[in-house]
Amino acid sequence: MNKNITVISGDGVGPEVTNETLKVLGAIALKFNHHFNYTQCLMGGIAIEKTGDPLPHETIDSCLKSDAVLLGAIGLPKYDNDPSLKVRPEQGLLRLRKGLQLFANIRPVTTYKSLHHLSPLKAKNLADVDFVIYRELTGGIYFGKKELNEEGTEASDLCIYNKDEISRITHLAFKAAQKRKKRLTLVDKANVLETSRLWRKNVQEISTTYPDVKVDYMFVDNASMQIIVNPKQFDVILTENMFGDILSDEASVLSGSLGLLPSSSIGEVNALFEPIHGSYPQAAGKDIANPVGSILSGALMMEHFGLHEEAKMIRDAVDWTLSNGFVTQDIDPVNSYFTSTIGELVSNYISNDIPQNSNISNMALGQTTII
Ligand code: IPM
Ligand code: MN
Repeated sequence: MNKNITVISGDGVGPEVTNETLKVLGAIALKFNHHFNYTQCLMGGIAIEKTGDPLPHETIDSCLKSDAVLLGAIGLPKYDNDPSLKVRPEQGLLRLRKGLQLFANIRPVTTYKSLHHLSPLKAKNLADVDFVIYRELTGGIYFGKKELNEEGTEASDLCIYNKDEISRITHLAFKAAQKRKKRLTLVDKANVLETSRLWRKNVQEISTTYPDVKVDYMFVDNASMQIIVNPKQFDVILTENMFGDILSDEASVLSGSLGLLPSSSIGEVNALFEPIHGSYPQAAGKDIANPVGSILSGALMMEHFGLHEEAKMIRDAVDWTLSNGFVTQDIDPVNSYFTSTIGELVSNYISNDIPQNSNISNMALGQTTII
């Protein structure tokens, strides 16, 4: 298979984690005889520094022409700490989502038995947790009209949704539920917000065309509690842009580290894959960031291309590293491995089919640098 992929490494640890995913995709391409052609592009803080624009037109043009986009992370502290700045790295990401019409952000939340001890939740609450968040990504308060009065004393952000925006992601979420445990929870604030009532009305209507899926409705304040007290009740969570942003970070603590979770953002035509973590600037250049969220985003990309065996191989390789203690500092501060070591081990597993009973510690010593 021949695919064109735009790579946006971005800021902070973005380039480091993305590099590991490219190693892994290289191993997949070799093993399965695919050709992935990469175009590197700028976005975020680095793009502002080099071009003055967080999303240069070359980047969006390349993404529009590609079969998929692999994104690292964007954002730098100097922009976070100065609310008066007019040009910000995040604007690049938001314009890219809108420009590519990536209306559905899909964030799977899984837990690994070998990492249960890392979660602040009790292990008994983590068994069988396996759900996915369908977050609407190109509407709502993120994209509604923003205003600040002349005196700079009053501001507003409009939360706006229309029927079509709600319907297209709702259908995707129902189809996903049909292939999973056949449950869908709409998370909203329909007791207060008009937009939420529009979501509820439309989801209720659409639900009649998916009679095999059991639907329930939950207010976002309750949902934020239920994700912690009883996460295994969820299968597919469908929600609007900002609620999905907040709940998906919350849900990441179930897996033990924000660094583990991948995401895909899908439109009718384009698709983008990125870890859910941010740019983690404190770790930049140290080779310590967790590349698993990015590598698993590579697996989601393979699935998007219909390459299921390849996706499974990446997941198996990641499972193998995690369950054998090959992990970064966020997971084990005492016995930790470099970002690049994890990428190499995952790639080696794919290229050589490392058997379970091989002498793991010798192998790692021989092939990589160990802290
Ligand atoms: C995310 C991020 C972005 C968002 C930021 C960087 C604009 O937090 O992808 O979840 O809020 O959508
Ligand atoms: Mn977020």
